[in-house]
Amino acid sequence: MHLILRSTERTLALGKKIGRLLKEGSILCLFGEFGSGKTTLVKGIAEGLGIKKNKVISPSFILLREYKGRKTLYHFDLYRLKSIKEILDIGYAEYLYDKGIVCIEWADRLKGYLPKTFLELELSIKDKHTRLLKLKAHGPYYRQFIKRLK
Ligand SMILES: Nc1ncnc2c1ncn2[C@@H]1O[C@H](COP(=O)(O)OP(=O)(O)OP(=O)(O)O)[C@@H](O)[C@H]1O
Ligand SMILES: [Mg+2]
Repeated sequence: MHLILRSTERTLALGKKIGRLLKEGSILCLFGEFGSGKTTLVKGIAEGLGIKKNKVISPSFILLREYKGRKTLYHFDLYRLKSIKEILDIGYAEYLYDKGIVCIEWADRLKGYLPKTFLELELSIKDKHTRLLKLKAHGPYYRQFIKRLK
């Protein structure tokens, strides 16, 4: 599914809707260039989970931040990941089986370590205020999820 997001607020609102609909244990992998809106979308998702969106920041030097809401949000930012070992050491594989919600920015860094099933969210910049979001399901639950978002 393709969506055009014409403002930061629209992206936040979509994230909020996603956050409200997600079932426990969901995994979202975010792709897209600098400033394409990955963190903005995660802020919206956090809000949908009952977490204050301002708490969510781009972790930059920190690979993982954890936020407590209706469900726990595990927010990975892999931009600075040097080797897969770095996240394996902090328990990456276990988080994938946790009841919380996992959001992974710069998921392309995972290469062969992408989860088996996940929702793919690929953002790209159209112009100053417009982003294109491509959603792709990896697994049956996420196919149904995309249908519910429409
Ligand atoms: N339609 C839009 N959706 C999302 N963000 C938008 C939109 N229009 C403008 N923006 C702006 O683009 C920027 C997106 O920044 P954000 O930190 O969310 O991107 P990012 O993909 O996480 O970047 P990084 O790769 O540095 O982590 C924000 O300043 C936001 O206000
Ligand atoms: Mg970011």
